[in-house]
Amino acid sequence: MYSIDYRDLGTPPAKADEQVTLEIDGATVTVPAGTSVMRAAALADARIPKLCATDSLKAFGSCRLCLVEIEGRKGFPASCTTQVSAGMNVRTRSPRIDQLRRNIVELYVSDHPLDCDDCPANGHCELQDAAEVTGIKGSRYAPGKTQRGAAPDISNPYFDFNPDLCIVCSRCVRACDETQSTLALTIEGRGFDSRVSASEHQPFLASECVSCGACVEACPTAALSEKSLAQLGQPEKAVSTTCGYCGVGCTLKAEVKQETVVRMVPSRAGAANQGHACVKGRFAYGYATHKDRVLKPMIRKKITDPWREVSWDEAINYTASEFRRIQQKYGRNSVGGITSSRCSNEETYLVQKLVRAALLTNNVDTCARVCHSPTGYGLKHTLGESAGTQAFTSVQKADVIIVCGANPIDGHPVFGSQLKRRLRQGAKLIVIDPRATDLVRTPHIEAAYHLQLRPGTNVAVINALAHVIVTEGLTREDYVLERCEAKSYQEWKEFISDPKNSPEAMESVSGVPAEMVRGAARLYAAGPNSAIYYGLGVTEHSQGTTMVMGIANLAMATGNLGREGVGVNPLRGQNNVQGSCDMGSFPHELPGYRHVSDAIARGSFETAWNVTISDEPGLRIPNMFEAALDGSFKAMYIQGEDFVQSDPNTHHVTSALTAMECVVVQDIFLVETARFAHVFLPGSSFLEKDGTFTNAERRISRVRKVMEPLAGLADWEVTMRLAQALGYPMQYSHPSEIMDEIALLTPTFTGVSYEKLDRLGTIQWPCNDKAPDGTPTMHVGTFVRGKGKFYRTAYVATAERSTSRYPLLLTTGRVLYQYNVGTQTRRTRNLVFNKEDVLEMHPDDAEARGISENDLVGVASRAGEIVVRARLTRRIARGVVYTTFHFPESGVNLVTTENSDWATNCPEYKVTAVEVSKVTQPDAWRERVAAMRAARKGASVSVA
Ligand code: SF4
Ligand code: SF4
Ligand code: SF4
Ligand code: FES
Repeated sequence: MYSIDYRDLGTPPAKADEQVTLEIDGATVTVPAGTSVMRAAALADARIPKLCATDSLKAFGSCRLCLVEIEGRKGFPASCTTQVSAGMNVRTRSPRIDQLRRNIVELYVSDHPLDCDDCPANGHCELQDAAEVTGIKGSRYAPGKTQRGAAPDISNPYFDFNPDLCIVCSRCVRACDETQSTLALTIEGRGFDSRVSASEHQPFLASECVSCGACVEACPTAALSEKSLAQLGQPEKAVSTTCGYCGVGCTLKAEVKQETVVRMVPSRAGAANQGHACVKGRFAYGYATHKDRVLKPMIRKKITDPWREVSWDEAINYTASEFRRIQQKYGRNSVGGITSSRCSNEETYLVQKLVRAALLTNNVDTCARVCHSPTGYGLKHTLGESAGTQAFTSVQKADVIIVCGANPIDGHPVFGSQLKRRLRQGAKLIVIDPRATDLVRTPHIEAAYHLQLRPGTNVAVINALAHVIVTEGLTREDYVLERCEAKSYQEWKEFISDPKNSPEAMESVSGVPAEMVRGAARLYAAGPNSAIYYGLGVTEHSQGTTMVMGIANLAMATGNLGREGVGVNPLRGQNNVQGSCDMGSFPHELPGYRHVSDAIARGSFETAWNVTISDEPGLRIPNMFEAALDGSFKAMYIQGEDFVQSDPNTHHVTSALTAMECVVVQDIFLVETARFAHVFLPGSSFLEKDGTFTNAERRISRVRKVMEPLAGLADWEVTMRLAQALGYPMQYSHPSEIMDEIALLTPTFTGVSYEKLDRLGTIQWPCNDKAPDGTPTMHVGTFVRGKGKFYRTAYVATAERSTSRYPLLLTTGRVLYQYNVGTQTRRTRNLVFNKEDVLEMHPDDAEARGISENDLVGVASRAGEIVVRARLTRRIARGVVYTTFHFPESGVNLVTTENSDWATNCPEYKVTAVEVSKVTQPDAWRERVAAMRAARKGASVSVA
């Protein structure tokens, strides 16, 4: 069912440079060679009815409704499957064509009567359109017998399948194949007996379907249709915005009725997603209006007091007076702020500006500290720029793809689909992961190598791969000679050639057979285009930065940087984690990654902001906690971050928060961290504000307001008013003015403006005089730092080892249906798909402990203990267990340790030595969370 403001041109655009001119209904049309007659006609405003064609899918040619006449050709070819040629003369209407089309529509209508009045697609149905164009109002044929009366499948929480309305055009089947790459659907039977089937007669919910919605969007009728459309009716307008979930940054159209979102439709013009989305972006937006939203500011003197609802003015003035009181008593650096990777660039920029200019300290940090800070450090030092090197589309030119410590099928689903598409076209895959993710083996793809390493041994494996490439002479010496520092290369070569880095020497460390490492190394070096994609399985280690440098070394040594199809690509977790880093959220860096000790950079901000900025880096998040426990750090402004659930060693975090005198939480829900807050400032969701997000490809995209902020103020307005209450003059009337200031002060953003974003759609930074329309591929010709620099990456075993007391290694990850700490997705119907964190363990490890599927198990580490349910699977190697961290009840971070990356303090979430044992009841933490939930629902808020 088509989107309200989209004109479907019938077939995808052709990419050829060559232009072809033809005549359609007497009009001259010029289009790229390879364009279908249907698309050319649509571009010439000729209306050809169609049913099986849509411009997101390859032409199929099954319905025959789009037939045309072409001079000099016999018969009536289908315009969707016929390509244009020079001088072609096409007629889209004639008495004969009209008659043939009428017959076809009549046949369809016999099986799908035009009972349109009560249909959710009424007015937006392509069969209804075809009937109107051909003048068909009913059918002379007997009603068909196959589809009518079949029970609808309402099992999916977001969409229904009504076989009565199905015209068996197979657009859904092809969308699941071509767009999503899941292949959950087939057409079974023949002729009138044919019908759509999900995973061989399963209800959608029980099938392989991952609820991406591509089939729903492709369906020309209401056979597959959003439940929300039936409930709310057709939308009235569409607002183009950017998904508020993951770092893919899909462009979505929020289709709205008054201020209610009826549905989200991925934009076909979206540069990152090209018309696709996943279950989160497309369907799981209901949290924005969930009843748990807190819409009134609240304050309390002590965290044991009940909350008191107050006005915005009172909350903001109270916060400002507390911050000033604390600074006067304990010093300027006794306060700090945390920016949010869920908020916009403009909002994170304002929070760091408030900390630096109004509070006059560099104590600002962001959640990237606990995810991709090693990426920033590692890539900056080796290549000169801390961000990923490619656009997502680059993967379509890759021949060999390494996916290391990432599970894009679950974590970055739309990129995961693009990746699967490329693999199905024949690209080779190397997976480096302790767990057999869905990429390793499915009916449609199989990795050439799965290097199933022990958690914590990434560096051993990357060194072994590099050792093979260097010692077998597989490096690109010409590339390195031209583009990299000779001295660092020689030193690295000597280091990496040492037999102690060989796959054979490292086999006992990593558990990966040496021959597999040798094979994978040769495959990567052979390319010719080899790309590396990696995630938190690389960074969240005590050697996270070392591993990022090892990846950069490997790419430089093989010449795999600086063009399409190659590169080093961190898959960023949250929607704007790239942007929050870009915007100066780290305590040592001003916006644009310029060190606070850089007098020229600092001077430009000092002039613009009319303050003196400290040249000393401020405190990182872990240091803030330590300083709080020491008594020297007393107040924190936390925008959109839930430390208590997301940071390691929960007891340590809660003790630090308890030790502070003023904790200010700005969020859309009363998150776990708010239990330790003295001030709660209601946040606004991505639907309630204007701004920009920057995705994992450095792509800046507009976020547009769909509804007014439910609490009355957008987050940027709250920060601005807080700065004013602190006595610092901060005044903007729209986020575009904040972006103008960012552009003025940040060399990589010089050319960015809302006007240009509206014009171009999106922009990949750097965007400046040298690259006025942005930079899809980094390091073309030369590295940003000049010569690429190799670093020696000695493998150092983590202090966290399995012992007789804690013999298993716990590693963590995420699932498709939940997002981060689950604050948003747990408040959507995604709970139907995933309702708790579970512990995956190998059946042999389970049997040795008397554990069966679904048993409650205690997971104990030297830091703490949790209770979760066991799931037995051979995806995970013996000796390793795996869980997610989406639910506060499971409290996974009670067991993770305080080990962290040597360079950036990024916590070592991915390696914790544990023991697992069967238990019969929930642990104290689970009971505490349940009790707190109950209390929160009760009389803990008193209205002033
Ligand atoms: S929702 Fe997505 S995964 Fe499920 S059947 Fe449709 S296209 Fe396939
Ligand atoms: S469900 Fe929709 S898209 Fe799929 S075959 Fe039926 S009518 Fe076509
Ligand atoms: S969660 Fe990620 S992949 Fe899914 S729609 Fe949003 S941005 Fe796209
Ligand atoms: S639209 Fe061309 S054959 Fe169906």
